[in-house]
Amino acid sequence: MYTTMPDQQPIRIQAEQIPFIREMAKITRNMWRFGWDERNGGNVSCILDEQQVAQYLDIHHVIRRFEPAFPVHELAGRYFIVTGSGKYFKNVIDDPEGNLGVLRVSENGEQLELLWGLSNGAVPTSELPAHFMSHIERLKIDPQHRVVMHNHATHTLAMTFVHTLDENAFTRTLWEMCTECIVVFSDGIGVIPWMVPGSSEIGRATAQKMKEHRAVLWPQHGIFGAGATIDEAFGLIETIEKAAQIYMKIAHLPIQQRITEQQLTDLAQAFGVTPRPGILKATI
Ligand code: 13P
Ligand code: ZN
Repeated sequence: MYTTMPDQQPIRIQAEQIPFIREMAKITRNMWRFGWDERNGGNVSCILDEQQVAQYLDIHHVIRRFEPAFPVHELAGRYFIVTGSGKYFKNVIDDPEGNLGVLRVSENGEQLELLWGLSNGAVPTSELPAHFMSHIERLKIDPQHRVVMHNHATHTLAMTFVHTLDENAFTRTLWEMCTECIVVFSDGIGVIPWMVPGSSEIGRATAQKMKEHRAVLWPQHGIFGAGATIDEAFGLIETIEKAAQIYMKIAHLPIQQRITEQQLTDLAQAFGVTPRPGILKATI
C-alpha cells in the first residue's frame, strides 16, 4: 500500500490508515456494538472516486474478477468498498483486508474487478444485487448519493411483527415517536413484502422503493438505508431504530399524550422539509 503527497516520493502505509477503509472498519464496529449485526448480519457498500482510490491503491492491478448476478452497465467504471459475504462485523477492525474489498465495475459492466481485500478467496456480500440496484436508483435522484447500508436493527425488526406493514402508517407511527423523526426521514419508509434474502428479486423490490425513500424495511429481517455519506446512512437507520425502540417500549402502555398532527406539520414547516404526501392523514 502506498500514497503520494505533492512533491514527495510514494510512502508505504497500512490499510488501517487509508481513510475509506478506516471509515468502514469504524462503522461496522459501531453497528456490531449496537447489536444490529449479529454473526455475519448486515452489509455496507460505498461508492468511491477514482482519484480517492488511486491515491492509495494500484488501480491497474486487478487481483481477481467476479461475475455479478446481472450486468450493471449503469455502474460501469465505478469504484466501491464493500463488506464480504459471511464476514463478522466485529472482526473488520482487526482484519480489514480479510473482511472488506475494493472493487471496480468493469468498463462493459459485466465483471467486478477486485483491487484490494477479500483475502483468502472471500467474496462480496450476498446482498450485492440489492446494493447495486439501490445505488442505481438513488444516483438517478441524488447525484451526491454514495452509501447503501443494511443491518438487522433490533427494535425496527421487532416492530415489523406487531405493527401493520402499511408503509404510510408505519412511517406515521415512527414520526410520532421522536420529535425530530419527521425532519430526518420526511421521505418516509418503504416497506417490501417478506422475501428470500440475497436474491435478485429482493434487490429489485428494494430498489423500486429506493426511488422514493432512502430507507426500506425488510419485514422480520432488517432495514436498508441510503445516504451521501456513511454518517448519513448510519444516522438515518439510527434515528429510525431509536423511534422503533420508543414504540416497542410504549406501545403496550396507556398513552397520556402524543405528538399531534398539528405539531408534525409545525415541525416540517420550521425545518423546511416536505413530509411525504399521504402520511399525515394516514390511519394508524
Ligand atoms: P452477507 O454476509 O452475505 O453480507 O449477508 C448478511 C445479511 O445480512 C444477509 O441479509
Ligand atoms: Zn440481512
